[in-house]
Amino acid sequence: MAILVTGGAGYIGSHSVRALTKAGRDVVVLDDLSRGDKSVVEDLLRVPLIVGGTGDKDIVSGIFSSHEIEAVMHFAAYAYVGESVERPDIYYRNNVTSTLSLLESMVEHGVRRFVFSSTCATYGEPSSIPIVETEPQEPINPYGASKLMVERILADFDTAYRLRSVSLRYFNAAGADPAGDLGEHHDPETHLIPLTIDAAHGRRDALQVFGDDYDTSDGTCVRDYIHVNDLADAHVLGLDYLEADGASAAFNLGNGQGFSVMEVIDSVARVTDHEVPHEVVGRRQGDPPSLVGSAAKARDELGWNPKYPDLDVIVEHAVNAR
Ligand SMILES: NC(=O)c1ccc[n+]([C@@H]2O[C@H](COP(=O)([O-])OP(=O)(O)OC[C@H]3O[C@@H](n4cnc5c(N)ncnc54)[C@H](O)[C@@H]3O)[C@@H](O)[C@H]2O)c1
Repeated sequence: MAILVTGGAGYIGSHSVRALTKAGRDVVVLDDLSRGDKSVVEDLLRVPLIVGGTGDKDIVSGIFSSHEIEAVMHFAAYAYVGESVERPDIYYRNNVTSTLSLLESMVEHGVRRFVFSSTCATYGEPSSIPIVETEPQEPINPYGASKLMVERILADFDTAYRLRSVSLRYFNAAGADPAGDLGEHHDPETHLIPLTIDAAHGRRDALQVFGDDYDTSDGTCVRDYIHVNDLADAHVLGLDYLEADGASAAFNLGNGQGFSVMEVIDSVARVTDHEVPHEVVGRRQGDPPSLVGSAAKARDELGWNPKYPDLDVIVEHAVNAR
């Protein structure tokens, strides 16, 4: 039996494929390569890659017919908040409609376990920190809304078709496999740690810091950075949980501690031994001062224990892979 990993040519998907194969699982990757890297799957991970979209019923049905798939890990999505505000149509189509089509194919073929890449963006502007899973989900952008819609579809598919799912609400994925061969290569890059590393190395202009007058320790926004290998491990545990007949559930995956933009800049400066050119500009609309998750539920119920909570280690691994 194999695990179908959608979006396995992307950042978190590729690290999770490695975690799965290390755990002795057979994997088949489905990726349309809109934002992923073919050579990572074929040359580094060396697992079968089917190039196609999750919304393509023929391709997806063909995979379920020709491989014995026991579960799906669904990373495939568009994941830029700003782009989702400008192009909500492509976000709802790719993240919701294509996922619905994939779920329909799963039901048709009797595949009933699903691990879903959800996001802290489903919470919007939370009322309390650290955020727990019962916090109201009120997304403030189409990206977060698209992920929440899938969570709701999953609840209904459980009731109607007994399709069991684990929704993993990640905070900010960061770092890279310590081996240094897999990394984060988004284009355009919007994530703070790779942007800061590139600024330190002179590969881009000064880093823009959006606001330093927030009600946080140093005035800059605080976010929760979680090592991508810890995320990958949580996916393997999520699968084990479903195989042990765990009920459908959602889990936050975060570091449990937040780091401010200035703390990230300081960490990158320490690790690279380079100053980070940066300039403070105005606040960005819709940026909450602090987003930090409680991962207590994932620890208690999945037995998840992040190995790399230290920011300097996360940054060091990101630097090695860049
Ligand atoms: N990076 C983060 O910090 C973060 C945080 C929370 C949630 N997430 C979620 O995790 C998942 C992975 O994020 P990532 O940072 O690795 O993104 P990524 O862009 O690196 O990877 C996504 C992969 O999915 C593929 N893809 C997109 N749409 C597809 C489709 N319809 N069919 C087949 N393949 C498709 C892309 O080609 C790419 O390889 C996404 O669902 C994202 O929303 C990411």
